[in-house]
Amino acid sequence: MQQDMILIIDAGSDKNAQLAREIRDLGVYTEIYPYSLGEEELSKLVGIKGVIVNGGVNGEGVVISDAIKNCRYPTVAYEYDGAAALPENDDERKAHLSKLVFDTWGAEPNWNMENFIADQVELIRKQVGDKKVLLALSGGVDSSVVAALLIKAIGNNLTCVHVNHGLLRKGEPEQVINVFGKELGANLVYVDATDRFLDKLAGVSESETKRKIIGAEFIRVFEEEARKLKGIDFLAQGTIYPDIIESGHGTAKAVKAHHNVGGLPDDLQFELVEPVKMLFKDEVRMVGKALGLPDNMVFRQPFPGPGLGVRCIGAITRDRLEAVRESDAILREEFENAGLRGKVWQYFTCIPDIKSVGVKDNARYMGWAVVIRAVNTVDAMTAEIEEIDYALLHKITNRIINEVAGVNRVLYDLTPKPTGTIEWE
Ligand code: XMP
Repeated sequence: MQQDMILIIDAGSDKNAQLAREIRDLGVYTEIYPYSLGEEELSKLVGIKGVIVNGGVNGEGVVISDAIKNCRYPTVAYEYDGAAALPENDDERKAHLSKLVFDTWGAEPNWNMENFIADQVELIRKQVGDKKVLLALSGGVDSSVVAALLIKAIGNNLTCVHVNHGLLRKGEPEQVINVFGKELGANLVYVDATDRFLDKLAGVSESETKRKIIGAEFIRVFEEEARKLKGIDFLAQGTIYPDIIESGHGTAKAVKAHHNVGGLPDDLQFELVEPVKMLFKDEVRMVGKALGLPDNMVFRQPFPGPGLGVRCIGAITRDRLEAVRESDAILREEFENAGLRGKVWQYFTCIPDIKSVGVKDNARYMGWAVVIRAVNTVDAMTAEIEEIDYALLHKITNRIINEVAGVNRVLYDLTPKPTGTIEWE
């Protein structure tokens, strides 16, 4: 189905993503392009009902391209070339945008996840035909939604590879196997590479070195699996719109160059399939929900790629890794029972490399200390502490000291970011 689209031209605003979101929330699709957008690229865009040239803080000296200036679509500008700004107040902004998009430009509110899924299934089939696609399925939201979309579009012509690096949370590999391997009947290759990762990481205490080892080993394992599979032409990736916006175009600052499974060797280069690359995170979640993925997969809190590897502080040992995995599972279970899932942004335990004296059965013994961390944030750049109810803290503490082997103390980290980062490493 051909959906209507509003084109947002980045002429120096730092709020293009927000504007794009606001219009999508009205039910009209949006895309953001740089002020230098050329004739050729513009001519490929379809369904345009209007163009917004959005200037702002980074707009000094910005001059939009002739292609945009002379385009045949109705255009308005904010904070560009002397134009006024959009209203600040949320309700006023919404009323203003709604009037512009629906009354002035006559757009239809036909952006919704059902239409998106139907469109993507068709587009994926058109792109890959009867060829084969490979996907690194981590079990995170983005790769899970991509897997579900591709299974719907091409079934067993998709092969998912789930690499368990031994640093996943409790129950995660099992859930991937159950949901994708069993329920959705996907073609799933499961690789338990725990020993391989832990051997490589043995004795390594510096956090960035740990991250590099985990990242490099992940690519190596994935590459080995990819080589075993014959006749693959495409690689699917869970790239999402913020990755593209942040990678920087026009005046947007390049925050990070984003590669999901970047770093594959030259002879293993595939054409990419990136079906959610125009979606914001909560839209990806809505698609996941519409495709029937379980809530605890779709509404999962952020989890670092190096996983529990950066929560087992210093050199990783199997006993502490197990203790962090078990204590994290207890914390998550208790937060979920208390109705806090989806309300607290991120919560987890970590385990520093310190032992302290404890008593058990009238004897002194040295045990590990587990740290509880729970934070709220908008963009992960700064974070505030979640004030956990005392009774809940008490319950979690008792469960951890009684149920987790080797642990005799529980600490509650009250440090905001700054000065502490969210993770300990
Ligand atoms: P920090 O610790 O820097 O974390 O305050 C901010 C957010 O980023 C997550 N994080 C990572 N995510 N790979 C990731 O994919 C990493 O190496 C990594 N380190 C931190 C962290 O969980 C938090 O949500």
